[in-house]
Amino acid sequence: MKISIFGLGYVGVVTAACLARDGYDVIGVDVNPSKVTLVNNGKSPIVEPGLEDLLKQGVKAGSIQATTDAEAAILASNISLISVGTPPVEWGEPNLSYVFGVCQEIAVAIGRKAMRHVVVLRSTVPPGTLQKCQHLFEEVAGTNLVHTAFNPEFLRESTAIKDYDCPPYTIIGTKSGFAETTLRKIYANLEAPVLVTKPEVAEMVKFVANTWHAAKVSFANEIGRVAKAFGIDGQEVMNVIVQDKKLNISPVYMRPGFAYGGSCLPKDLGALLYFARKMDVPTPLINTIPITNVLQIDLAVQAVLRSKARRVAMLGLAFKPNTDDLRESPTVILVKRLLGEGCKVKIYDRAVYQARLIGNNLAYIEQNLPHFEALLVASPQEAVKDAEIVVATHNTNEFRQILDKASLNTQILDLAGVLNLEDSAHKLPKEIVA
Ligand SMILES: NC(=O)c1ccc[n+]([C@@H]2O[C@H](COP(=O)([O-])OP(=O)(O)OC[C@H]3O[C@@H](n4cnc5c(N)ncnc54)[C@H](O)[C@@H]3O)[C@@H](O)[C@H]2O)c1
Repeated sequence: MKISIFGLGYVGVVTAACLARDGYDVIGVDVNPSKVTLVNNGKSPIVEPGLEDLLKQGVKAGSIQATTDAEAAILASNISLISVGTPPVEWGEPNLSYVFGVCQEIAVAIGRKAMRHVVVLRSTVPPGTLQKCQHLFEEVAGTNLVHTAFNPEFLRESTAIKDYDCPPYTIIGTKSGFAETTLRKIYANLEAPVLVTKPEVAEMVKFVANTWHAAKVSFANEIGRVAKAFGIDGQEVMNVIVQDKKLNISPVYMRPGFAYGGSCLPKDLGALLYFARKMDVPTPLINTIPITNVLQIDLAVQAVLRSKARRVAMLGLAFKPNTDDLRESPTVILVKRLLGEGCKVKIYDRAVYQARLIGNNLAYIEQNLPHFEALLVASPQEAVKDAEIVVATHNTNEFRQILDKASLNTQILDLAGVLNLEDSAHKLPKEIVA
């Protein structure tokens, strides 16, 4: 396999050096002749620990060369990696002109070469970009010999070689079996799991990963400010938080779904926000958490109203499955809003139905849904019978079976990710499904 790498920036040059070290013949391509000269002389165009040594070895062994001639690089290789820049334009949108410019050059060269070629997009791009590149290859090269994949890079500057060698995982976003097999071979020596996804999922994952990192930094900083106001060391607090790998640093609470609720999350978040306000500590990120939570309920109300259905079967009432706790359940608010809009609602929740509602729970529901007993039904069949829309708020096997069996004429609002969107014959309102 001979690999051409377009863009000899941080990603491209590190990848070139590591692939050459791993035994591949690499041709680096850049529009900047100074970078090309540096690489050809075994010198690094960026400051990165260990990189210059690898480049020197690669050039000496004849396994790395660089050029400004895109066509020559395509003709001499059978795999191309694209790692050109995608800098933001003023309003935040990424500038994809370098990506499409390179694709155009590759397409023209492949049109002449008329041989199977794998093109791997590694620049960070919005979902749907690889598909546009694929169309461009088919139109310009006039062939379907190009096999494409999106393969995001997770290296961090200053630890780039170590990160390249030990990534959290290798993501291959592709519809092409040939592109997948080729990438698996290239990365065979990396000790990382390989995840194969749809291209647009892989593209989105890279955006989300960096957004998540930024959110974590800002969250920790806000906690640090509040902790300081209490006279506590925020570092100490966060050191304890990150040691909980079951609930804190884990997949728990990390799936899109319905709003949070219950007797603890809204109360304790509210308390933290109260103390921050009282002590004059700005916490803009944490302040928006209740706002986005209410928005999730609003979107559900709007989705039901837009469906024009007025007879609603609500599957799940408590804030999560297998509990009768109705305090601060977002579904209670949802039902209340729908009743106010003139909907007829039947509610099925096995745990709530079986429970003897007592204490705070009873007081809460009596205050929020006084005629709640009349809405609650004993079986899912009773709830779904005559319903024009079924709303699922818990992700359970019981609800999955009910939704699977529901008539195709019944609309479904899946707030909990119960159904697989693609497998389901039902049309689901896209704005709100988990
Ligand atoms: N820097 C990082 O740590 C990092 C990590 C992961 C992903 N990424 C993503 O990877 C992409 C590249 O990032 P970078 O930091 O390496 O960028 P960079 O700006 O350092 O390098 C981009 C290179 O592409 C070259 N280039 C532009 N047009 C070209 C063309 N038509 N043909 C050949 N070369 C061309 C430029 O001259 C430049 O050398 C971006 O989308 C970025 O978001 C960056």
